[in-house]
Amino acid sequence: MSADREPIGVIGTGYVGLVTAAGFAELGSEVFCVDIDAEKVQSLRAGEVPIYEPGLRELLARNSERLHFSTDIASALEHARLLFVAVGTPPTYSGDADLSAVHAVADAIPASKDHALVMKSTVPCGTGAALRRIFHQQGKDSLAYVSCPEFLKEGSAVEDFLHPDRVVVGDDGDWAGEAVVALYAPLGAPLVRTDIASAEMVKLASNAFLATKISFINEIANVCEQTGADVVEVARGMGLDERIGPRFLQAGIGYGGSCFPKDVDALKQLAGNSGYHFQLLTAVIEVNELQKRRVISKLQKHLGGLVGKRVALLGLAFKPNTDDMREASSLVLSARLQADGAHVSAYDPVAEEQARKLVTGVTFATSPLDAVRDADAVVLVTEWSELVALDWRQAADAMAGTLVIDGRNALDAHAVRAAGLTYEGIGRR
Ligand SMILES: NC(=O)c1ccc[n+]([C@@H]2O[C@H](COP(=O)([O-])OP(=O)(O)OC[C@H]3O[C@@H](n4cnc5c(N)ncnc54)[C@H](O)[C@@H]3O)[C@@H](O)[C@H]2O)c1
Repeated sequence: MSADREPIGVIGTGYVGLVTAAGFAELGSEVFCVDIDAEKVQSLRAGEVPIYEPGLRELLARNSERLHFSTDIASALEHARLLFVAVGTPPTYSGDADLSAVHAVADAIPASKDHALVMKSTVPCGTGAALRRIFHQQGKDSLAYVSCPEFLKEGSAVEDFLHPDRVVVGDDGDWAGEAVVALYAPLGAPLVRTDIASAEMVKLASNAFLATKISFINEIANVCEQTGADVVEVARGMGLDERIGPRFLQAGIGYGGSCFPKDVDALKQLAGNSGYHFQLLTAVIEVNELQKRRVISKLQKHLGGLVGKRVALLGLAFKPNTDDMREASSLVLSARLQADGAHVSAYDPVAEEQARKLVTGVTFATSPLDAVRDADAVVLVTEWSELVALDWRQAADAMAGTLVIDGRNALDAHAVRAAGLTYEGIGRR
């Protein structure tokens, strides 16, 4: 693209930072990436991609001449006015967001009327205002600030960057807001230009709403199990209502990942800290925790106890097409199963390396059939296409028992049953 595109800095080269960097490089910007993780920077410089995200490797390779990686923020400050912040904001013990990485970045930026901090990290509403108070104390009033929350989904992050549903820019109407709007303009997405606090809240409220939709359909699934209805049919009927829509109405074993759990918690705590008890979110969180454990009761019901039983988990990542294991339902499942005396084998086409850092006592298999060999029961945890397409006759031959629990309602129940296996989904007849 044209050489007059604004160069940018991207601070933090994780899922959001790398995709943002590669995306803006694709649109023609020179991008100066900064990360404190020297090993990561080294591997990015060598052309390696430290995360699994479809299309990202190709996008980075195609734009490698415009992408620069460093552990030193100086090069970003020298070449770019806009510094996109994409560092992690994990939960603290209290459920509030840990903003220490955000503060470390803010502290590293000197007083400058020529620079702006553009916040991509998900932060509580009020963070922009708090940072500006700190800038004031540090004599850095001239530094501009923009809230530009990120809505990409792991697994389709590149596509989401290039074709966003909307771009949200919260600012004071100064040069920095204009510059961010201009950067996104070629994508032609609907623009929500608003104040900083509202932009921050759009992000938290969006994730909380999606999580609410998931917990809602999971509760409907649980009622379906008591009443003989099939939640897949129910969701189909509900989703055709334009006011409801079909997405995020897939019942299953709960949401996970690096965003929903922490952002829902952060919004609940934010409300609590400001004196409001957000009852709905309390229920959303509790329903999700219980939902992960419902698989255990299903296994117990069919197997009559788990001591000495062999259970195969198919899929470990929190959703397909990512290697992200943060808050994955598989973590709770594998721990609970082992605590109840079961032997657990597991297979994931991509997330094994990440899973090995978080999961103990599990036998990692090299293929789905290897995982189900001699198993008394199989649980589909992540609906990778490879797992959904499993040959259930071969699986039945390899298994010792006959139980298949479809934790994502993604399998062909007829094919499973035709193989002589017992199929049980979530909220299915
Ligand atoms: N992952 C998602 O799907 C997603 C989607 C939307 C928004 N977000 C938000 O974006 C933010 C980043 O998420 P992520 O998943 O990309 O995180 P991540 O953990 O994958 O990446 C964060 C990166 O920041 C680096 N970092 C930490 N402190 C730093 C510092 N002081 N200077 C430079 N680099 C530093 C880390 O080394 C790491 O590489 C979070 O606030 C998250 O909530 C994430």
